[in-house]
Amino acid sequence: MGKLVIANWKSNPATLDEAVNLAKATDIRGAIISPPDIYLQELKNNLSNADLCAQNMFWEDTGSYTGETSWRQLNNMGIKYVIIGHSERRKYLNETDLMINKKVLAAFQNNITPILCVGEPEEVREKGVESAKEFIKNQLQKAFSNLETINSNLETVIIAYEPIWAIGTGKPATPEAASEISRFIKESLKTKNYNLETKVLYGGSVDSSNASSFSNEQDIDGALVGGASLKPDEFKKIYDIFNKS
Ligand code: PGA
Repeated sequence: MGKLVIANWKSNPATLDEAVNLAKATDIRGAIISPPDIYLQELKNNLSNADLCAQNMFWEDTGSYTGETSWRQLNNMGIKYVIIGHSERRKYLNETDLMINKKVLAAFQNNITPILCVGEPEEVREKGVESAKEFIKNQLQKAFSNLETINSNLETVIIAYEPIWAIGTGKPATPEAASEISRFIKESLKTKNYNLETKVLYGGSVDSSNASSFSNEQDIDGALVGGASLKPDEFKKIYDIFNKS
């Protein structure tokens, strides 16, 4: 199986027409597109190859939760993936480890594959790789708390390692460092004995000029692509590099 390449559009583009055009231009079998929720239905009608992913999800079923899109609504729309705990949500929306844990558990319980984002801020990285590992281990432990109590048919979990200092800065992590953290994430989850296949993606300033250095790393199973996913040619190149076509 090829490596996973996920387009994280964040709060882009500004109009539905642009969203449909961008989706059609990047409608690649095997790719996963994560648009703002407001475009999901229309993109579902327009995509024939790529899968869709939500950028967030509320943990309750339905009810009085103004502004939230619940797992049930995603399920009913046939959305199979959800990004959980992106650092931008942790920062701008004050999303806590407890909220992230509730979302992860709801995703597992309802067979929506979570793409859990973890990654250290710059001040932690400056203290060295062991500090970064400690930070990430703590994020993983909190996100997966009580997972063993959940019934789930999911066999795969996806972790996106996104060092905060590398997101949108044009300064990606080195492939060696990203690979070391990916291995660390896989080992941490294996010792927890969840019996899940763990795929680790790298995210943070991935573009077509650096994609091959990440795709060549055995322990990196793909990429979560932000800015470059809004440029169809760039995104297609990145996809091809990860899938060696
Ligand atoms: P970037 O964003 O590729 O623009 O750095 C990645 C992400 O935040 O998922």
